[in-house]
Amino acid sequence: MRYPFPVMRKSRNPFTQPFVSLAVACLFTMLPGCTLTAFAQAPAPVPDSPQIEAKAHALVARLTLEEKIELLGGVENMFTKAAPSIDLPRFKMSDGPLGVRSWGPTTAYAGGAALAASWDPTLARKVGEGLGRDARARGVNFLLGPGVNIARSPLAGRNFEYFSEDPFLNAALTVSYIEGVQSQGVIATVKHFALNDQEYNRHNVSVDVDERTMREIYLPAFEAAVTQAHVDAVMNSYNLVNGVHATQNDFLNLKVLKGEWDFQAILMSDWDATYDGVAAANNGLDLEMPSARFMDAKTLLAAVKDGRVKESTIDDKVVRILRTILRYGFLDRPQFDPADSTYSVADRAVTLDAARESITLLKNDGHLLPLDPARVKTIVVIGPDAWPAVAGGGGSSDSRAFEPVSILTGVANQAGPDVHVLYARGLPDEKEVFHGTHWKGGVKVEIFQGREFAGTPETTAQSNIANWKTEMWGPEDKTLRSIRYASEYQAEKAGKYLILAAASGEDSFKVLVNGKEVVAQPQKEGQVPQSVTLNLTAGETVKVVADYLPHAPGIRFGLGITYEADLVPAEVKQFATLADVVVVAVGFAPPTEGEGYDRTFTLPWGQDALIEAVAAANPRTIVTLTGGGGMDTRRWLDKVPALLHTYYPGQEGGTAVGEVLFGKHNPEGKLPVSFDRSWDENPSAPYYYPIKGADTSLHVTENGKPPVDYVIGHVKYEDKLMVGYRYWTTTGKHPLFPFGFGLSYTTFSFSNLQVPATAASGTAVPVSFDVTNTGSVAGAEVAQLYVSDPSAKVVRPERELKGFEKVSLAPGETRHVTLNLDARAFSYWDDTAHKWTIDPGKFIIRVGDSSENTPLHADLTLN
Ligand code: BGC
Repeated sequence: MRYPFPVMRKSRNPFTQPFVSLAVACLFTMLPGCTLTAFAQAPAPVPDSPQIEAKAHALVARLTLEEKIELLGGVENMFTKAAPSIDLPRFKMSDGPLGVRSWGPTTAYAGGAALAASWDPTLARKVGEGLGRDARARGVNFLLGPGVNIARSPLAGRNFEYFSEDPFLNAALTVSYIEGVQSQGVIATVKHFALNDQEYNRHNVSVDVDERTMREIYLPAFEAAVTQAHVDAVMNSYNLVNGVHATQNDFLNLKVLKGEWDFQAILMSDWDATYDGVAAANNGLDLEMPSARFMDAKTLLAAVKDGRVKESTIDDKVVRILRTILRYGFLDRPQFDPADSTYSVADRAVTLDAARESITLLKNDGHLLPLDPARVKTIVVIGPDAWPAVAGGGGSSDSRAFEPVSILTGVANQAGPDVHVLYARGLPDEKEVFHGTHWKGGVKVEIFQGREFAGTPETTAQSNIANWKTEMWGPEDKTLRSIRYASEYQAEKAGKYLILAAASGEDSFKVLVNGKEVVAQPQKEGQVPQSVTLNLTAGETVKVVADYLPHAPGIRFGLGITYEADLVPAEVKQFATLADVVVVAVGFAPPTEGEGYDRTFTLPWGQDALIEAVAAANPRTIVTLTGGGGMDTRRWLDKVPALLHTYYPGQEGGTAVGEVLFGKHNPEGKLPVSFDRSWDENPSAPYYYPIKGADTSLHVTENGKPPVDYVIGHVKYEDKLMVGYRYWTTTGKHPLFPFGFGLSYTTFSFSNLQVPATAASGTAVPVSFDVTNTGSVAGAEVAQLYVSDPSAKVVRPERELKGFEKVSLAPGETRHVTLNLDARAFSYWDDTAHKWTIDPGKFIIRVGDSSENTPLHADLTLN
């Protein structure tokens, strides 16, 4: 289906109205100059046909084996290769999934977790369409998104790119997003197939998981992408699944994806996620990105020659690439169309809608919100996430927005010219701590050749430890070094001192105080600043030694110590005292949450102390959180009356926050993940890290060498089906905030549930009910339908989401909602029969506004 125009909600898109009229006028009057802006006709792909098949096969027949193999690897990081002998040009790719990152500034959309919090597939489609238009305007043929892995743990560094902890919600958003992108003639690439649910050691972790768990939790969004949205590219993940790398995993790629789901398009690798050319070629991988390091001519020519790989296997890969290219018409037209825009006012409106729909109000004691403009004369906005804007997390999805709106700007805009707005970051940044530390007698720096801190070092002295990106030796000198810093620190006052250390990339370090290790960073992909607090007495002097191992030539290391009570400057507390209301914007940001590493559950260093200090100075303190999911709020939650989660809200996030705080927009976001109190209580916590020593076999990496201490770790998904709310509702325990929860400035009621008493197994079951806005302002509620199967022969989660609908209601308005439950809504994966199975008997249908609040329920018997 084509969607040449964005589907718009009138009241919400102030930017787009003129464009609708213009586009309609263009269509019907053929006015000159009417090939404008975002409304170019979308050249959506055509279905496969005998003609396309014949053409693809004819092209393949004109290629030599060498030329065919050439096409199985990318080039210049983001292109497929050309085949001049058949006039096949190269095709362009771009990340994804939150903005088109090709290249320069772009429209930066709300992250996947934010989109999921909107529970609005129509919005996901609009985002997909916007991304598709932007991609086309940049000549991009493949968009590397959506990312649809499951948010199993709040630590996983890329949850913000993905959607939610629930496969049904993920699948619904995945389908709409992909349909939106592909409707614009751009190939969507669903990633990362499969089970890349953590960043920790992502190249070398084997996710060991039973088939039922895979089928019920981790595969449905991919399945829906292929079977419902007809996605035309899939990206294999870095990790192993049950001991076999995804790029060479016959179960995932051949049995499930290309077999059962009948995927006929392109399976590409993640960037450097191929580990064995022959195994990958034989187990479904069609395209190695970013270049052929393993599926290269040397390997595959020899393998075809001696029969380890069939030529027909190579042909099939090339046919898949050509078939897809032909279906999109990429040989008939340039991807760039002069009618496209890379700066789209229409899409800015979509990003604003996404931010508005996702922001989730978690606490609002005494109805502090919405703010009463008559009572707000001075507003203070504080915190590292207040300014500049934090539109998205870090890594390959990081899209540079043209004009991202910060929370500070958004709040100030809504407050208007008569309100005093005061801003403070509230905390120093790392470098200020490193530079501000007074080391007694200076710092001795010893630089040793090699990584062993051995031999005679080159010794220098410096006043602080803030060697951020210093080239200590020439870039041509690749010799590895080890560096030791030694000094003393004298505490002026008694109390807690924060020790803060940060390095970069895969560098590692450990910090010793009086000979005892207090903080360390092992060598691994990615890192965040490390901190610890120590109690010191007044006048106490401690010996501090830091052993630092850079992974690349040069030094990127900082270390500092600061008195914790002085972290929050006195003027910040004074500001807070003066204010009628304080907004503290905290949470994560690209340096602390992103691709390649997992994040902490606790807020980044100093932020708990900042909230406590502000809340002590002003009881009217509102906290906004930025991040991909839950985080630790225990130190301060009962001290603040209001809390909002913004996820990563995209470039218009600040505007949406301002609108929500001042009641211009009634919050409607609902948590796409269960919000735990502590990391320990997350159901994946006991099984999150690899079992040590289970398998220490070294694995060959992309450069052919095993890196230091990289081994295959086996992560056993013993939490099985009990992910997120499935665990909480089955155990009868309660998280801090349940999946599906979010407050509104109005109230809603559910009534009149209608469910047939009996139905035949396998037939669709209609469920209907009423939702009423019982309050005095307009608002949107997400009606959530959960199914329980108490008579199942196997253990099932107590309830599972199988339907939802967002309803916007005026005060007093009632809407009758009908949701249809298909056979899958009642099925589980039978591990013995290897198929989806329904156990006839009793089911319970529950409807409500979160996984824990389902006021409507009715029994249903399936025969
Ligand atoms: C990421 C992918 C991304 C690719 C290209 C990889 O590191 O895992 O999600 O699409 O890089 O940038």
